[in-house]
Amino acid sequence: MSMEKKKDIVMSGIRPTGFLHLGNYFGAVRNYVRMQDSYTCYFMVADLHALTTLNETRELKGHVRRVMAENIACGLDPDKVAFYCQSHVPETAELYLLLNMLAYVGELEKTPTFKDKVRLQPQNVNAGLLTYPVLMAADILLHRATLVPVGKDQGQHLEIARDFASRFNGRYGEVFPEPYAFNFGEALAKVPSLDGAGKMSKSENQMATIYLADTDEAIRKKVAKAKTDSGGDPGSPMPESVANLFQLLQLVSGEDVVQKFTADYAAGTIRYGDMKKELAEGMVGFIGPIREKAEAIQNDDAYLRRVMEQGAEKARASAKVTIQLSKDAIGLSYI
Ligand code: TYM
Repeated sequence: MSMEKKKDIVMSGIRPTGFLHLGNYFGAVRNYVRMQDSYTCYFMVADLHALTTLNETRELKGHVRRVMAENIACGLDPDKVAFYCQSHVPETAELYLLLNMLAYVGELEKTPTFKDKVRLQPQNVNAGLLTYPVLMAADILLHRATLVPVGKDQGQHLEIARDFASRFNGRYGEVFPEPYAFNFGEALAKVPSLDGAGKMSKSENQMATIYLADTDEAIRKKVAKAKTDSGGDPGSPMPESVANLFQLLQLVSGEDVVQKFTADYAAGTIRYGDMKKELAEGMVGFIGPIREKAEAIQNDDAYLRRVMEQGAEKARASAKVTIQLSKDAIGLSYI
């Protein structure tokens, strides 16, 4: 018998509503790569979740393939983890249905992400939007995962997933461990947008979002357009439109560069043009190789097919066990 300790189970997902941006990388993908050697990992492209907001699905195929290619280009190894598409694992939908019986409409209506979506797309408040957190809980609980590497914006969804796990266990019997958002013991990441207005995101200002697919020129142009203050008085508190640039600099440039501009800021001698140039070159240097690798992978049909098939197979093997345990606990087993 192997004496090896059972590894903790990790699960996470990304919606293919567009290509990946720096927020996705530093909030999620970087940690997938850091975790893949030490844990049993399930990572997926949440194409079903994307349907809650997409009216136009013709672009889905391209986005799914690009997002998969970008994950791999960032260092995710499909041989080390289960890397799959959500819709290739129909057990997800089965667990989603079972969990829906435990989800109260009132609590779902109060979820902040649901309220945001109602505001953003009042003409399409579909039931999928309302039950979005139930589907996400199904993704996680399907593998009985305990660690979920995500950015700060997903923290609330993890709380809901924990509630469903304990509600299921309380009502039917112990099946699910409680899942927690994970960032190596640190606060969950929130990568700011270039315009200093909140987090970097796919759906909001495109000029304030840096994509892993952006060309060097596009990156330089976006950074050059970023707002800054006019220098500020020494010692004055840093406005959001400057603090965000420092946070981004921290992610893509060396510590010496960050220290130099921090000291300049404190002394009131900062030259924002120089700082933005450093920031742009840091991003170009970081993104260029990923973009090129992703392009090559995206065009390799045979390889991508193999990745998707192999990922779905690994994910379904784990999912089938959980579905059986869930049905047995509920009492949906008659023969
Ligand atoms: P999504 O597709 O919006 O984002 C994917 C991942 O990127 C992180 N992220 C960020 N992190 C830091 N700063 C930012 N500006 C930033 N923007 C995005 C997100 O936190 C996330 O980790 N509902 C999920 C997808 C999902 C999922 C799951 C996640 C579906 N099933 C199961 C975990 C487990 C979402 O919409 O992520």
